[in-house]
Amino acid sequence: MITLWGLTKRYGDVLAVDSLDLEVRPGRVTGFLGPNGAGKSTTMRMVLGLDHPTSGQALVGGRPYRELDRPLHHVGAVLDARAVHPGRSGRAHLLALARTHRIPDRRVDEVLEQVGLAPVARRRAGTFS
Ligand SMILES: Nc1ncnc2c1ncn2[C@@H]1O[C@H](COP(=O)(O)OP(=O)(O)O)[C@@H](O)[C@H]1O
Ligand SMILES: [Mg+2]
Repeated sequence: MITLWGLTKRYGDVLAVDSLDLEVRPGRVTGFLGPNGAGKSTTMRMVLGLDHPTSGQALVGGRPYRELDRPLHHVGAVLDARAVHPGRSGRAHLLALARTHRIPDRRVDEVLEQVGLAPVARRRAGTFS
């Protein structure tokens, strides 16, 4: 569960996120929609501990992200698809993440299979649209 309480972010004069209250429940696909500049990315950065709220809080499983013991075991996020090395395959990228978080290699293949990406897992990420 992701819980946002009065989540607010101000950059100088710009109120990027204005007192957002929200519960994102497990086991559901939840869309987070809004026009350009609505504050979606800022909210996601605050959930992931990449930006500090001006006030309020964002909790993952009842705790701030930075207090999670093994965060990658709870949260997977891609905020910027360009952050992936274009010359590396999708599988190699995930293997690097797995091996630095004590997740077994077989889990990478399981997940690729689960989301239907196994057939292209060895293609260079830079070739994806
Ligand atoms: N690092 C930043 N410094 C100053 N203003 C920012 C910064 N990040 C976002 N903003 C501003 O906050 C508002 C929300 O932006 P953002 O969260 O990127 O919206 P969205 O992802 O919904 O398009 C915009 O007005 C944007 O210009
Ligand atoms: Mg955005």
